[in-house]
Amino acid sequence: MTESSETSGTSGTANGNRTNDEVWIVGATGRVGRGVTARLAARGLTVVPVGRSRERMAAAGAEAGLPADAKVVVADSAGRIADEIVRGRPRVVVNTMGDYATTAPVIARACMSGGGHYVDQANDVVAVEGLLALHDEAVRAGSTLVTGAGFGVLATEAVVARLCEERPAPHRVRVDSAASAEVEAGALGTALAAGIVDALVAGGRRYENGRQVSARLGADPQRLAFPDGTSAKSAGVASGELIAAHVVSGAPFVTATSALAPTTPLLRALLPLLGRLLSVPALRRRAVRLLGAVSVKAAPRPREHSWGHAVVEWADGTRREGWLRAGEGMAYTAGVTATVTELLAGGSGRPGAWTPAAALGPGLATTAGGAFVGD
Ligand SMILES: NC(=O)c1ccc[n+]([C@@H]2O[C@H](COP(=O)([O-])OP(=O)(O)OC[C@H]3O[C@@H](n4cnc5c(N)ncnc54)[C@H](OP(=O)(O)O)[C@@H]3O)[C@@H](O)[C@H]2O)c1
Repeated sequence: MTESSETSGTSGTANGNRTNDEVWIVGATGRVGRGVTARLAARGLTVVPVGRSRERMAAAGAEAGLPADAKVVVADSAGRIADEIVRGRPRVVVNTMGDYATTAPVIARACMSGGGHYVDQANDVVAVEGLLALHDEAVRAGSTLVTGAGFGVLATEAVVARLCEERPAPHRVRVDSAASAEVEAGALGTALAAGIVDALVAGGRRYENGRQVSARLGADPQRLAFPDGTSAKSAGVASGELIAAHVVSGAPFVTATSALAPTTPLLRALLPLLGRLLSVPALRRRAVRLLGAVSVKAAPRPREHSWGHAVVEWADGTRREGWLRAGEGMAYTAGVTATVTELLAGGSGRPGAWTPAAALGPGLATTAGGAFVGD
């Protein structure tokens, strides 16, 4: 259901369709959605919250600086949101509702039907590969689709892209991701819960001889020493960061670790069984519901900075290493999504489906507030 839908300018797109100048934020009451709404409203874009509670969207919109009579779109599933997008033809849709393997293709296809653009913060293998698989459709539609527009994928992808600039494809790449995020008090939420459950189901992955193969979730635990003297443990995961590091470098051997991966021996031993159980659809749904309802206490970020790291090795023995330093992880994610969205709204994107640095270059990571450290 759409309310007070006065819109302003329209623009032509490659497939002859027309969009208006609106940016729709799906999940505008959530943590990432609120941050993106506030940043885009402050930059003067026409922001439209999309979600399932009109009251909560009005409250979140007011907090984010939207006018009291701002348009909102009320819809409670990816399918209904897609119907509204086809009718409303916004220029860009930001999807923060999570469960991306399911919601992203539905919402992205609705955007493409009007020649509009799409942005999300997915960082799991299935969702990121699923969105990238829409590349040819997006080119035909004249739409730009960007997945992984957050600390994950961009913080590691940008470092790899920078280290590989104007060089032949390396032999081996390792990326390490260590977000430092504040915890907000309240329910964990189904968006985050779905991400955690899906990471357990996916297990671990790596690239060997150019092929993606299974690995153990939590493989190769290590202690990462950051350039500011702090440190954190990390271990192997299957992530969008792994996919992006492979695509952007062209390296046949790629591994990815994350500070969010379990590193304790007992938990690592239990993970394969847990992953198999959660791959049963009914158990997955139940686990997402239960985990999403878990109440968490507020907690400060564990370290001042979030870090993305990459080590790139060439067959001739050349080795380069670099870091991306960012602030609080959720704020950086909102900053990345807002920056990508503003660029797409302004017509800067190339048609196709991309991870963020592939779409807009590694400089995006600094435009969004990060800093490269090292090589
Ligand atoms: N790549 C990265 O680095 C990165 C960083 C942070 C987050 N993320 C991901 O980004 C996503 C959002 O995170 P978050 O912390 O902002 O989550 P959140 O606070 O739980 O927000 C989710 C939003 O989606 C809405 N939503 C959920 N289901 C919906 C439905 N069926 N219909 C309509 N709206 C629905 C929620 O609305 P209600 O208010 O009605 O519940 C809420 O506004 C998660 O998947 C998370 O894993 C990625």
